[in-house]
Amino acid sequence: MKTYNKRRSAQTQAHAKMQRSISNVFAAILFILFTMAFYLTISFTPLTKEEHIERYEKMTDDVEPFRRNLTECARQVKAEMVDVEKFLKRIPQSSMQGKCFVACILKRNAIIKNNKIDKGRLLELNREVYGEDSEVMARLKAAIAECSKAVENEGLFEVCEYASVFNDCMHMKMEHILDQVMMERRLEAMSKVATDPEQWSDDEDEMLKLVRDEL
Ligand SMILES: *[C@@H]1O[C@H](CO)[C@@H](O)[C@H](O)[C@H]1NC(C)=O
Repeated sequence: MKTYNKRRSAQTQAHAKMQRSISNVFAAILFILFTMAFYLTISFTPLTKEEHIERYEKMTDDVEPFRRNLTECARQVKAEMVDVEKFLKRIPQSSMQGKCFVACILKRNAIIKNNKIDKGRLLELNREVYGEDSEVMARLKAAIAECSKAVENEGLFEVCEYASVFNDCMHMKMEHILDQVMMERRLEAMSKVATDPEQWSDDEDEMLKLVRDEL
């Protein structure tokens, strides 16, 4: 019973912490896709300066396509750095530019086609990240159905509004399971590079810096 309570409170704490750090499921997905390769290339041995430089360049190669899309979308919709930052930090967008930025990224990843969410594509992208995890996939399918209904019921025909409402909705529906299931695994995978979960934010900062340089 004591152990149970302890675990419960640790879980509650972990949940609260995660709620602060994750607020956009798509950003999370994209981020995993384009940073995982980087994390996996890092070994346990101390690196020489040359190796550090080499690995930095490798990371830059991996994030480059994502960074380019972020930059191009920002230019296209005249989004400001704060909008890009909100996207990467998974904070709901409030400005029209920010909403259009979400739409642009979703379009570029073919999640939105002909101004409609492509459910198959969204599942496919998630499958690449989560594999055939039946719990996550079942949850995801339910969330897609609910969020599609939500945007339809609101009669959102304008693509930027549609994209950002859908995006925020997905985040809210998926947060719970991402916290419990994926965060554990993600942190486990990351424990091979660092025991500090802040590593994640550091890399986001790195990404922001790369984008910022271009804007
Ligand atoms: C970037 O955008 C292109 C389409 O312009 C898309 O094919 C590609 O998957 C996108 N890559 C990333 C990393 O978002």
